[in-house]
Amino acid sequence: MCGIVGYVGARPALDVVLAGLKRLEYRGYDSAGVAVLADGGLATARKAGKLLNLEKELAERPLSTGPTGIGHTRWATHGAPTDTNAHPHLDNAGRVAVVHNGIIENFACLRAELAERGHELSSETDTEVVAHLLAEEFSSCADLAEAMRLVCRRLEGAFTLVAVHADEPDVVVGARRNSPLVVGVGDGEAFLASDVAAFIAHTRSAIELGQDQVVELRRGGVLVTGFDGRPADVRSYHVDWDASMAEKGGYDYFMLKEIAEQPKAVADTLLGRIDASGSLTLDEVRIGASELREMDKVVIVACGTAFHAGLIAKYAIEHWTRIPCEVELASEFRYRDPILDPRTLVIAISQSGETMDTLMALRHAREQGSKVLAICNTNGSTIPRESDAVLYTHAGPEVAVASTKAFLTQLVACYLVALYLGQVRGTKWGDEIQAVVRELSRSSQDVERVLDTMEPVRALARSLAHKGTVLFLGRHVGYPVALEGALKLKELAYMHAEGFAAGELKHGPIALIEEDLPVVVVVPSPRGRSVLHDKIVSNIQEIRARGARTIVIAEEGDETVVPYADHLIRIPATPTLLQPLVATVPLQVFACELATARGNEVDQPRNLAKSVTVE
Ligand code: M6R
Repeated sequence: MCGIVGYVGARPALDVVLAGLKRLEYRGYDSAGVAVLADGGLATARKAGKLLNLEKELAERPLSTGPTGIGHTRWATHGAPTDTNAHPHLDNAGRVAVVHNGIIENFACLRAELAERGHELSSETDTEVVAHLLAEEFSSCADLAEAMRLVCRRLEGAFTLVAVHADEPDVVVGARRNSPLVVGVGDGEAFLASDVAAFIAHTRSAIELGQDQVVELRRGGVLVTGFDGRPADVRSYHVDWDASMAEKGGYDYFMLKEIAEQPKAVADTLLGRIDASGSLTLDEVRIGASELREMDKVVIVACGTAFHAGLIAKYAIEHWTRIPCEVELASEFRYRDPILDPRTLVIAISQSGETMDTLMALRHAREQGSKVLAICNTNGSTIPRESDAVLYTHAGPEVAVASTKAFLTQLVACYLVALYLGQVRGTKWGDEIQAVVRELSRSSQDVERVLDTMEPVRALARSLAHKGTVLFLGRHVGYPVALEGALKLKELAYMHAEGFAAGELKHGPIALIEEDLPVVVVVPSPRGRSVLHDKIVSNIQEIRARGARTIVIAEEGDETVVPYADHLIRIPATPTLLQPLVATVPLQVFACELATARGNEVDQPRNLAKSVTVE
């Protein structure tokens, strides 16, 4: 949520900041703004709407720029998405500019205090108070980093702040608490950003900022301290992807590119995790085998698409390890006093590694003594940093708001964890593990084959663009796939879409069926537990008898479904538990094409942001 960029170096800051904001626009697109140091003062521009609006404004009214600047792309929390509420926010003298991500919970009382002292605040945001407080502190200490430390100690809530002051034109200062901020270190230049994507074109050398830390950036280097002023230990790392991976690469949308990258993402996530003997070697899982053997419960916490990956993981974990597994929305988890102890393994799944609800859930779990294993796609992010162990997915940067390749790689990681638990606990024989691993290794090619046959799915999606509702049904692991298909359609096509467990139909949802209503049905393999297959074939007949237009996703060779399918989407035959890896792909393509046909912005759906860093 909200993208932040800061730069100090030798280049024109405005260019660097705007290019960085372009890469971060997926984080929020309600407004955008910049502040650059020039001619002894601050020059700013802010505009409601997408970054394009700001660029137009700058084309009409160019800013002169020095080599220091900050920028922001906003996902609105406090105050409507207007020009006035757009960041950066300034103090009354126009000497300090600040950009912010998060929520300052005590802003109302700080605002009242400031008003009493004669400050005039012009926006409805919580952020503006920080600009005024910084100006006050700076007037006595004449040191922006110190002013930031003093102000941060007074703030409650979650925040990333980045500020500049006209009286310290070679300095950018950042601070973070419960909200992401990374430092990029170049040759004679330094960057601050919510995500490395903002500076990856300039440097792949990054520093993680810890909780409650302030960073001071100068051309010659970077200084990190705690809010208390004590020097902090810093962890540097090398970003293992490059700028080309965060570009569209000839595709119209990032989402299309990311869907197409799935075979590679799946293969990369398996890479190096299986040794020559076929055993799993999950080096990053730093929870000892003996501890894992002691676990008597697994709890998975996640949000949105990652939650759906967790729902699928439950089937694999319970089947392969016989450990009870609960899956919970991270946003609900800690508010119901869950039963946790040192024998509970908590798995937190997150693409971004910054989702606030998931972060809070894992903190709660660790406070109760549970071990937390993160499954994450973003190196250096907060969730893996605060977990006991991490298994990174290797999907590469996912820019489109709708999660696709991250989901498939989360599934792969979950299967690996489930098998690993089976391996260390001895509930799976080595040859059984190897058999599943062989199937998993094939899944990358299977996904490729699905992608090669998507033209009819795209045509079908276009033909349904005028519809108001689409329902999705599944059983067993097909149920979370149905939920994921519905979520994709909601977020991209803004249509009423719902996923149901097919067995629940007769308990209510069947009343929704009417003439020509599109219903997508994910059919389990007839080769697996055939009872599942037979039951869903009956469900298809029931809805078809009531007028539904059935869109059936079934594996190659399953002829039983043919008479009942108005549209048949074939997927390669896979073991039942692994079917989501191939069954989800047509649903991603379907949602993307339908959204495009409706004229929606595929990569930046309305009201959404890629990374949800507020609760
Ligand atoms: O970064 P995370 O995986 O923690 O994000 C969780 C959800 O916000 C995310 O999956 C969201 O549901 C996607 N936009 C769905 O496509």
